[in-house]
Amino acid sequence: MPRATHETSSDLDPADPIIRLVDLWKSFGSVQVLKGISIDFPRGQSTVVLGPSGCGKSVMLKHIPGLLRPDRGEVWFGGQTIHGRRENQLGSIRREIGFLFQQSALFDSMNVERNVSFPLIEHTRLGRPEIRDRVEEVLEQVGLSQVMQKMPSELSGGQRKRVALARAIVLRPKVILYDEPTTGLDPIRADSINELIIKLQTELNVTSIVVTHDLTSAFKVADRMVMLHEGRIVTQGLPEALRQSEDSYVQQFLEGRSDESDLLPVAGPAGVSNDTERRAERKPRASRKDG
Ligand SMILES: Nc1ncnc2c1ncn2[C@@H]1O[C@H](COP(=O)(O)OP(=O)(O)O)[C@@H](O)[C@H]1O
Ligand SMILES: [Mg+2]
Repeated sequence: MPRATHETSSDLDPADPIIRLVDLWKSFGSVQVLKGISIDFPRGQSTVVLGPSGCGKSVMLKHIPGLLRPDRGEVWFGGQTIHGRRENQLGSIRREIGFLFQQSALFDSMNVERNVSFPLIEHTRLGRPEIRDRVEEVLEQVGLSQVMQKMPSELSGGQRKRVALARAIVLRPKVILYDEPTTGLDPIRADSINELIIKLQTELNVTSIVVTHDLTSAFKVADRMVMLHEGRIVTQGLPEALRQSEDSYVQQFLEGRSDESDLLPVAGPAGVSNDTERRAERKPRASRKDG
């Protein structure tokens, strides 16, 4: 699909938003969290949803596989609606969506092989040898091959994220949702997760939706960006358009004046300050698709 060359979502190939949110509203009690969000997520691209903590990113994301229901508005996956479906009608759609949760919770009592096999045992009729092959394959895809028999407690934070990601892709989803995939990782491990997001998107030809408040990660992986603030969209478009936006909130966010402590709290290696790294990273990424 050709990359949109303009800034607004209406310029995208209208045939191909694989996921579409239309005027989504959601509140919890008296707290209005989403206030009319509309986003088209183009097929085969990575869209990063950026915004400060508490602005509603995770709430937005959970509407996609129907883990939350909107008070008002629509959620579309391909040509199918998600909103309004009953829980027992969501299974087949959820199988097409890999979800890397913020707290990539693995089952502590199961080794890596069992953790990653779990969705295959639950949702397919594959036999043991096929399951084992598939598990090996996805572990290789996430760059982990020697850990099949290890327990989660024996792994580093970055390795646990990778195992959770292997589990998220083992059913070969069309879409992968990442909720703060780099949070809590040091800059090197965070960057290897960014690389992995890009690699999986290219190799598996999936659509990626990445929610983050980490600017380095955002500019590294995004084909398109959406910025949320207090439950509304501030701006959306190509990363360059966001960078050049004159909106004062966008500028403030990009300059790190908002939420500074949240961005990259871990000191970089060899005394490299995160600020320096962040600026160095803010160069435009060469397009992977325009060839
Ligand atoms: N299940 C819930 N019940 C009540 N409030 C919630 C729930 N989930 C999220 N919220 C509230 O919604 C707001 C946005 O949360 P969230 O989407 O998690 O923010 P973030 O952008 O950091 O991911 C927060 O004020 C949060 O407390
Ligand atoms: Mg969140």
